[in-house]
Amino acid sequence: MASFKRYTITAALPYANGPVHIGHLAGVYIPADIYARYLRSKGEDVLYVCGSDEHGVPITLRAKAEGIKPQDVVDKYHGIIEKAFSGLGISMDVYHRTSDRLHHETATDFFKKLYENGKLIEKESEQLYDAKEEQFLADRYVIGECPKCGNKEAYGDQCEKCGTSLSPKELINPVSKLSGEKPVMRSTKHWYLPLDQYETFLKEWILEGHKDWKSNVYGQCKSWIDQGLQPRAVTRDLDWGVKAPVPEDGKVMYVWFDAPIGYISATRQWAKDNNKAWEPYWQSEDTKLVHFIGKDNIVFHCVIFPAMIKAHGDYILPENVPANEFLNLENDKISTSRNWAVWAHEYLEDFPGKEDVLRYVLCANAPESKDNDFTWKDFQARNNNELVAILGNFVNRVIVLSHKYFNGLVPSDRKEKSESIDDELLAAIELYPEKISKAIEQYKFREGLQEFMNLARAGNKYLTDTEPWKIFKTDSERVERILHLCLQLIANLSIMAEPFMPFSSEKLKGMLALDIGLKWKDAGRTDLVKAGIQLQKAVHLFAKIEDGAIEAQIERLRATQNNKVDEKAVSKKQKPMIQFDDFTKLDLKIGTIAEAEKMPKADKLLILKVGMGEGAQRTIVSGIAEHYSPEEIIGKQVVVLTNLEPRKLRGVLSEGMVLMAEDDKGKLSFVSPESVMDSGSIVR
Ligand code: MF3
Ligand code: ZN
Repeated sequence: MASFKRYTITAALPYANGPVHIGHLAGVYIPADIYARYLRSKGEDVLYVCGSDEHGVPITLRAKAEGIKPQDVVDKYHGIIEKAFSGLGISMDVYHRTSDRLHHETATDFFKKLYENGKLIEKESEQLYDAKEEQFLADRYVIGECPKCGNKEAYGDQCEKCGTSLSPKELINPVSKLSGEKPVMRSTKHWYLPLDQYETFLKEWILEGHKDWKSNVYGQCKSWIDQGLQPRAVTRDLDWGVKAPVPEDGKVMYVWFDAPIGYISATRQWAKDNNKAWEPYWQSEDTKLVHFIGKDNIVFHCVIFPAMIKAHGDYILPENVPANEFLNLENDKISTSRNWAVWAHEYLEDFPGKEDVLRYVLCANAPESKDNDFTWKDFQARNNNELVAILGNFVNRVIVLSHKYFNGLVPSDRKEKSESIDDELLAAIELYPEKISKAIEQYKFREGLQEFMNLARAGNKYLTDTEPWKIFKTDSERVERILHLCLQLIANLSIMAEPFMPFSSEKLKGMLALDIGLKWKDAGRTDLVKAGIQLQKAVHLFAKIEDGAIEAQIERLRATQNNKVDEKAVSKKQKPMIQFDDFTKLDLKIGTIAEAEKMPKADKLLILKVGMGEGAQRTIVSGIAEHYSPEEIIGKQVVVLTNLEPRKLRGVLSEGMVLMAEDDKGKLSFVSPESVMDSGSIVR
């Protein structure tokens, strides 16, 4: 490690077509942040860069679906993502974006150099074309059957089911996402990066030279290289992207060509803003470049981008690419389109002040070597049983006792009162910094965090074993010794917490009135807190999370799923025959809508108060907010299924269901009596 003068740390540029979720955080941004914070604490020269990936088909598709411009889509999500990162203490030195001019310039220069030096091949070929929309169908503009696994909804660039990387022409029965039509073939010219020419280089560099990489990463690289590499098109016939500097009009760079260059653009932006030179971070062999990514990005960062770098010639290659596997949510794959996710920006709203709890849980459970699962129950348990019961409890007891016995003044060392149990604690304080360093430097952040907690555990146990509250009356000097050591331990924890839980680290330093300049090199010392210093009052580091908060989150997830199930249930297929008795089980009555309001933070739900006759009213949550405004439905008479088991939706108890008719286009209409009826009238 020591041979490197500086570090360039990159985290995959998130697509600005949606917010970031816990899977992104656990896989990429939190590990990169821990690494960057740790190295900064060691006094290294570190640059942590990231930004929004604002090109590519998912963004234009989203824009089309919402009827807005691609730039509007990326502006919206760039803002949301940037804010969520900073809210969680993700300490990027710069968060740039690929629609920025500086990036277009950087990517254009890069492309131009390859083009002018003859590193790209020009080739005319037949491609899928949407005759109705007059557009070539690149990447995700087309879906069809995966030739490998038969998945009917594979994308033109990849099958998400089996992970195979595809090209549009390989799809069986392709369909245009734009018009829904079957594409035709049409000839077009494109520029290709001849990956096959880099096979020897890649074999030597990765397969021979980087056996040290994580086995999941090395394995994927090996399988790609062993399968034989093909030339890969780096231009597209689209109008959203970085214009490709080629003689032909209407060509943009493939998003995976320009996006990784975004790391360099971000560095240039940072240098500009801070009056620094960017070149050392990308051009000096004594810089250690590390890419943090998820497993779906491995081939781009380990094969294609390095081949681009090699072709270009002026930039350094990554020293390591510690890619992570995927995080699932409640035993199901996280999915943006199905809204099966915990969104970073929503978490920050729902759990203010608990940024470190999420950081902790996602690191403790990070999918470092295999896919892992996030559950809200586990989140609660880790908070209550680990953060609160071990770390928080230890710190709180020590600070409170110091105030109680010594007016909050750090008691003196009292070496003459030492006992053998103290030596164990002192040894632990000396030993752990090295253990944690070692884990972090090997990208084993889970292990590092676990060791950190082991040290807190050792403190907690020491306090429980020495029982200062029992001996204060008879031997207050021994208590001075005990609390003095505990305070030294907390000072150490405050330093070593910083990469993992920066907010708590700061609180700890505040309580101990510590020099905020304390760094990793100071960890292991037992003279960090000076006797006689006034401690601050104890502040709660962590608080118990109650069942209600967890149930609300689980309910919210289930509600999004129920919507999906409801949607499926509206299939027009004839249902199986039932008996008259089955029908009479339904208690259907006429109700009159008395009040209606939007459910906070839900796009689809209205909360209705429905009069059921004789002054009786029911609360019913109904998924009609996208079809009706609250005002326009007051007074409407509707059919209510009144004996449906009540169900909580977003914390509101819904007592029944309002019957709706729905046509093929998804248009909704109330089912209403043909003439005005008394509320409560029976429907049969
Ligand atoms: N936007 C891509 C994704 O979310 C990652 C791009 S990483 C970069 O999968 F290197 F290309 F920037
Ligand atoms: Zn497949």
